[in-house]
Amino acid sequence: MCGITGYIGDRDAYSVVVKGLQRLEYRGYDSAGIMLFDKDVQVHKTKGKVVDLQAIISKENRQGNIGIGHTRWATHGVPNDVNSHPHTSNSENLTIVHNGIIENYDKIKAELSKRGYVFHSDTDTEVLVNLIEEVQKQKQCKLAKAVQLALKDVIGAYAIAVFDKQNPAEIVVAKLGSPLAIGIGENNAEFFIASDASPFIEYTKNAIYLEDEELAIVKAGCEIEVRKVNDDSEVNPLIHALDMDLSQIEKEGFDHFMLKEIYEQPKAIIDTYRGRLLANEGIVRMAGIEEYIEKFKSADRIIIIACGTSWHAGLVAEYIFEEITRVPVEVEYASEFRYRNPIITEKDVVIAISQSGETADSLAAIKMAKEKGALVFGVCNVVGSSISRESHAGAYTHAGPEIGVASTKAFTTQITLLTLMALKLAKEKGNISNSNFHAYLQSMELIPSKVEKILEQNEKIKAIAADFLETPSCLYLGRGYNFPVALEGALKLKEISYIHAEGYPAAEMKHGPIALIEENYPVIVVAISKGHYEKVVSNIQEIKSRKGKIIAVVTEGDVTVKEMADCVIEIPEVEEALSPLLTTIPLQLLSYHIAVARGCNVDQPRNLAKSVTVE
Ligand code: AGP
Repeated sequence: MCGITGYIGDRDAYSVVVKGLQRLEYRGYDSAGIMLFDKDVQVHKTKGKVVDLQAIISKENRQGNIGIGHTRWATHGVPNDVNSHPHTSNSENLTIVHNGIIENYDKIKAELSKRGYVFHSDTDTEVLVNLIEEVQKQKQCKLAKAVQLALKDVIGAYAIAVFDKQNPAEIVVAKLGSPLAIGIGENNAEFFIASDASPFIEYTKNAIYLEDEELAIVKAGCEIEVRKVNDDSEVNPLIHALDMDLSQIEKEGFDHFMLKEIYEQPKAIIDTYRGRLLANEGIVRMAGIEEYIEKFKSADRIIIIACGTSWHAGLVAEYIFEEITRVPVEVEYASEFRYRNPIITEKDVVIAISQSGETADSLAAIKMAKEKGALVFGVCNVVGSSISRESHAGAYTHAGPEIGVASTKAFTTQITLLTLMALKLAKEKGNISNSNFHAYLQSMELIPSKVEKILEQNEKIKAIAADFLETPSCLYLGRGYNFPVALEGALKLKEISYIHAEGYPAAEMKHGPIALIEENYPVIVVAISKGHYEKVVSNIQEIKSRKGKIIAVVTEGDVTVKEMADCVIEIPEVEEALSPLLTTIPLQLLSYHIAVARGCNVDQPRNLAKSVTVE
């Protein structure tokens, strides 16, 4: 996700801010920029890396003791120089850097355009800085007041740093939903602003973490002033004495990026359905699918192509698309699809799922599908990635950068997005009743809090994991929507702990896998009290009668399986169609703790790359 940083004090702002941007590189980004103030404002920004930014700033342009910087992870507008931050207002008095998403930016942009504002980029951030300018003009007020009033009209998430060259002694910052930390120099002689403490931990260990809807004015040599956005009342901030080292800060205190990303899933799911799932209005809004809705409605078939975890998300999508839209769905491994000369017609819609948007087999497969006349819809996490650019249309999961090689939040956000697509298409085709549609929307809104509840069992799952460190192999079983979850759970275990594992439809036991069961052989079973629960119970019985060791993921309150299994992990009640968003979480944590206990490199497992950009 984006990173912001800034400095005001006596040091050379260029070196502090650029080094701060380098400290934020781990967050993942596609462009970088900086504003410096000496006698006037200078803004330098570019698509690419921090090193590319440094290359475009000549030595004589590196003056000044005030600066703000930004690493951009594109959410609105593809990665390019113009869309990079910082952005300046029309008058060029105001400069802003922003991490977050302004949901209502289009309405604000339309209003400002009517008042003569012009926009050079596709970003929501440029709209925000001009809104602040407009408020400042209307109210004839100082920057902090203008920021406070402007943010009251904003819906979305933000961490911003704003500078006004008319009053260059201060920087105004504000926060809602995205993190913002302020490093406090000795005697308030200098201040450091950043998305986390990594850019300033080497200068000071005293920091304030703004709370949501708080704003602060930082001025060298003065006490920091913190106020509430909604009523401008003063806040007495808590000053933290930091005791984390750099690597801990990048992982926000988690031991590994994978664990951090498992815990980010509630927020990632919210960010993915934000602005799309409008439960109160009873609508799903998704520009990419709306543009081609007739093609989707008249499609003979939906072909989902992907690899690895994304392929598992496609399998989950197959169940919900077929169940509620009644459009036939096929899920294909991209690597097989591209070489088997498949039958594709103009009546087909191809959905390509890819976190990185750079998987070579998936990219090649959609190029072939396009040549054969199919509509290609990309579901990617990286804005401006090759697959997203190659697709006719698409929608981004807003999971934020996924650093750990093992995919976790990408999987749950892909399923979130695909579920919304299926609901929208079913509604458009009239294949779902209003009551069912609304029920799904309301249930989807409850998913993040249910994920939080499962994450609270982390320590219990870590204790369960301790029994499986030496096992040579594991079997994962699930039925219906949870068959793909069994596959995904097995993939997680084998790719980070190097223990062989296989996922199977529970009913397939009798067709071979049951031969594996012997005393203490571990079988992980997803046995929620939905779908064909009774049949899963009898599968568990078959394992138990052969003395297999059973870990079961069950619905809260389950008693039947609880009596049979060696250990159970309970998840909150949920519709079967949405259950993969929950049943996956315990399996992610289980594989994580087994791998850590086995001393494996969880974030960079052997032989694996985060994105398979070659065949
Ligand atoms: C899953 O944990 C792996 N990282 C891998 O299977 C991955 O899902 C696969 O390579 C597809 O990557 P993509 O989603 O970026 O296309």
